Amino acid sequence: LPTNVGEDSISEETKTLIFSLPSYKDSIGKLYNYQGCWYYPNTLEGVLNFQRGFKPQGTDIILASFPKSGTTWLKALTVALLERSKNRPSDDPHPLKTDNPHGLVPFLEIMLYSKSSTPDLTRFSSPRMFSTHMPFHTLQAPFKEDTPCKIVYVCRDVKDVLVSHWYFKCIYLNKEIDKSVLEPMFESLCREVGYFGPIWEHVLSYWRGSLEDPKHVLFLRYEELKAEPVVQVKRLAEFLGCPFTEEEEVSGSVDKILELCSLRNLSGLEVNKTGKTSNNLQHHSFFRKGEVGDSKNHLTAEMENKIDMITEEKFKGTGLKF
Ligand code: A3P
Repeated sequence: LPTNVGEDSISEETKTLIFSLPSYKDSIGKLYNYQGCWYYPNTLEGVLNFQRGFKPQGTDIILASFPKSGTTWLKALTVALLERSKNRPSDDPHPLKTDNPHGLVPFLEIMLYSKSSTPDLTRFSSPRMFSTHMPFHTLQAPFKEDTPCKIVYVCRDVKDVLVSHWYFKCIYLNKEIDKSVLEPMFESLCREVGYFGPIWEHVLSYWRGSLEDPKHVLFLRYEELKAEPVVQVKRLAEFLGCPFTEEEEVSGSVDKILELCSLRNLSGLEVNKTGKTSNNLQHHSFFRKGEVGDSKNHLTAEMENKIDMITEEKFKGTGLKF
């Protein structure tokens, strides 16, 4: 969730553009629909700045997701996988022990490009790692055929995303976990409005991207990561071009990475218990239960059925099943 959703801090150029866009107001602020996706003005400015100013490098890695789908976990796993080739001095602490995954792999539109179309990216060494909640077609704008980067998308059951988002929003609004917050969120979800939504089109944009270009777009599922973490992490490592060697497999390197990136371990680290992101979100708010199917404990059967029906309808004929 963005910290400042007002229109006062955005450029004249963005102000002019947003006048022509469909808009909608929720409990936090006004959202605008750009290229089929809903944004608060400051995030939209980040998207536009990114599209105007981002200069891709062929080795870039972009971690993409709809919010609350497992972004933090995917970032941690990717950092840990790439860290293996970095040969840091042994007394250097692992980056995951000194920073939150969102500090290590910042969001393009929310953090890096929200204020400028030319942010200083010199601190990123190759391969640079960024993240995004933009849909695939919006992210693709600055990439040309000769600089296709690697994109990893993680998706999650829509019902669990909703519940996870509800908890997160209550923390953000400093409210009790209350059904009066959940119900309007459910309504917005089903009406296909809401920050970065609609979720189904978001997921489908990357699903289609991964079918068209599997060498450059990897489609992961939170539920599969939970059910068969070893298989999925090896898949991720291979896709990123850093597969596990036989020696690593024998020495238990896969399990060590899974343990380092486990919710239990990450949420217990001092940096995640006390720190905040650059846009002022508490690090600990990114860690909760991390379970598959927690929506059963919070949504009514009617709510679940309605979401399932929309999902079935939207994904019909696409090859994507939940
Ligand atoms: P729950 O709210 O269902 O527990 P995101 O990272 O996209 O914001 O998603 C947050 C969700 O991922 C939360 O789900 C959170 O608990 C879960 N999560 C965070 N870190 C995780 C980890 N290391 N392993 C598994 N799940 C994790």
